Amino acid sequence: MYIDILTVLPELLESPLSHSIMKRAQQKGLLTIEIHNLRKWAVNEYGQLDDYQYGGGAGMVMMCEPLAKAITELQKVKKYDDIVFLTPDGERLNQKIANTLSLKENLLFICGHYKGIDQRIRDHFVTKEISIGDYVLSGGELAAAVLVDAVGRLIPGVLNDETSALTDSYQDNLLAPPVYTRPADFNGWKVPDILLSGDPKKVEEWRHEEALKRTEERRPDLLKED
Ligand code: 6GU
Repeated sequence: MYIDILTVLPELLESPLSHSIMKRAQQKGLLTIEIHNLRKWAVNEYGQLDDYQYGGGAGMVMMCEPLAKAITELQKVKKYDDIVFLTPDGERLNQKIANTLSLKENLLFICGHYKGIDQRIRDHFVTKEISIGDYVLSGGELAAAVLVDAVGRLIPGVLNDETSALTDSYQDNLLAPPVYTRPADFNGWKVPDILLSGDPKKVEEWRHEEALKRTEERRPDLLKED
């Protein structure tokens, strides 16, 4: 998979995508992330990318021209399956959206800043608008990092144990069950006996029950979805 990211703050994205599973995905050649500094397509020698909004009001808006130039130039090299704008008024990210995006070959992510981007870019280039939750971030970069991670780890071959993505919270609309490791008794706090029983069927049943219990307690809304 190829993910291109357009941003005014490349530094904010570099570190989160250079470690752990995202690092391994790139080293294995399963994921190629290219971060592009929008400044490269600025309209003048001052590097201007934003301007006052029509109709007045506080806050600057990212201009059409640099974004249109950048997208058009990148489109000459790749045909994007989706051009995703990260924005708090987009569709709220969930595991289903991550699963869908993980099947694509070429994605372009656009990080907004200031008051947002000129609506005409959204109307004419953007094919998907995604928010990572009901709160406001200073820009789209951290949201883009979240989206790359959520999608990238689902690409076949990225995780060592392929089944581990399948048992994640949310993959089956259930939260994950509790997990334990050695020692079996820590200061008198014991690991549930069933996990030490050596009976894989019983363990599986216990985990499913615990997952259900946890979901009913914490996120009953998940049990009502699709
Ligand atoms: Cl995608 N962008 C910004 N700026 N804030 C957000 C967001 C995105 N998702 C949640 N809050």
